[in-house]
Amino acid sequence: MGRLVIVSNRVPVPKRGETPAAGGLAVALKDAFSSRGGLWFGWSGTASPEPADLVRHARRGGVDYAVIDLSQEAYDGFYAGYANSALWPMFHFRLGLLSYDRGQARCYKLVNQRYAEKLLPLLRPDDTIWVHDYQMIPLGAELRARGSKHRIGYFHHIPFPPWAVFSAMPGGEELISNLLAYDLVGVQTQRDLTGLVDCMAQGTGMKVRPSGQQAGGEIRFRGRRTRLGSFPIAIATEEFAAVAEQSVASREVRRFVESLAGRSLVIGAERLDYTKGLPERLRGFGALLENFPEHRNNVTYLQIAARSREDVESYKDLKREIETLAGRINGDYSEADWTPVRYVGRTQPRDMLAGYYRRAQVGLVTPLRDGMNLVAKEYVAAQDPSNPGVLVLSRFAGAAEGMPEALLVNPLDAEGIGEALHAALVMPMEERRERHGAMYRRLCENSVTGWARSFLETLEGQETAEAPSSRAAALSMPQPRLMARSDSTSSASASAVSTGSQVAAISTAFARRPR
Ligand code: F6P
Repeated sequence: MGRLVIVSNRVPVPKRGETPAAGGLAVALKDAFSSRGGLWFGWSGTASPEPADLVRHARRGGVDYAVIDLSQEAYDGFYAGYANSALWPMFHFRLGLLSYDRGQARCYKLVNQRYAEKLLPLLRPDDTIWVHDYQMIPLGAELRARGSKHRIGYFHHIPFPPWAVFSAMPGGEELISNLLAYDLVGVQTQRDLTGLVDCMAQGTGMKVRPSGQQAGGEIRFRGRRTRLGSFPIAIATEEFAAVAEQSVASREVRRFVESLAGRSLVIGAERLDYTKGLPERLRGFGALLENFPEHRNNVTYLQIAARSREDVESYKDLKREIETLAGRINGDYSEADWTPVRYVGRTQPRDMLAGYYRRAQVGLVTPLRDGMNLVAKEYVAAQDPSNPGVLVLSRFAGAAEGMPEALLVNPLDAEGIGEALHAALVMPMEERRERHGAMYRRLCENSVTGWARSFLETLEGQETAEAPSSRAAALSMPQPRLMARSDSTSSASASAVSTGSQVAAISTAFARRPR
């Protein structure tokens, strides 16, 4: 078996002598890397006026890392520009925030071309390449254009909207067509798969039919096959639970708990991003205090919001808005000995967070849209099973598909969030245990290494035994319906995709849409 080559925008190169990062992709890929060796390629995280045109190499823990710098111009156009000012809002259904600029779109393409040029000489013929996320959509096509015959998969970590939203993006057709260069395109949830299939059908003008296969399907285009599937990302549940159990005994967490003086704790933790629904969430907490006065002076809300993408225009006002809202709630409800909202604007160490989660009666996770949201999963993993807290979760987080026992809310409904918080704070122990137990068991069934294995085995042609159970809780989701485009060469039949399988079963006969 050939090596595994990972391409992601940021490459977490561990420092010499350091173990790889505790969370994220590094953990998911540990098994795969150790069994077959690997290369991780991408951006170093450095932008400089005149970057050296070099690929820098490092070898850590049996993995080769190869990184390149971006010029300031490429950083502005590719990262802050097209990726995070156009693609990010579009994929999160925020068309009002989409800022499109042709120069930035060109820059995005150029950076992907450069990645392809730099990566190609590092590849061996039997490597399998796995590309991650929206910053890299054209990379597969750029590699193919330079003669790559490798197996190449793409995983999309963030939501995938339907064509009605996607088509607002100038050049949307080309972007979608880029996905046809991959052998497998994976998304997080069934809802995302519905969006992806809709975009593939409408954005490319192809006629799409179900293949009738039990598990697995494909789009055929110019002699290539592209399979589409949903692969909900998981966490290392038992490991995180152990960290949380240990962490509550630490001095820092004990000191924090003492500072609560016996009050209940509601916790939220994320990057400071407009998709996370932070102002809406603060209003929800305000609604709890307004409409359920019995909680005044009895509950504290800790919101951790690490600064992020501060040079992107649409992120600039958010911090101020949150600070104003938190200040207003505190002004309205504080007592001399109680501050309702504690706001921390920095990242916290992972183990400390795990301890805070375990001590929190409520995990409040209310993004307006989110690909998956691992905080929701980590909050559940961190709980004491004999006295667990309650997860209040946005129905628009991908995690909601696999966590129906959470209290699901619409994040735009402040009073609804207030009611859910109240329900969580007064929920009897037995109900809390039941809800938590069901979610925890499901988290344990789906390991993060299993997620990577399932994607790679599908990409490389075998199915995995673990994969179908990962969708056990998703059965209530509406199934994708594929609309066939009507044109002179195809019949206008609409067909449902076969479902409950790891990969959407689709086979296609293509007619290019006249442009
Ligand atoms: O999950 C989406 C994502 O954009 C990842 O691709 C990225 O690594 C992470 O969020 C953090 O974003 P950024 O790299 O822009 O700080």
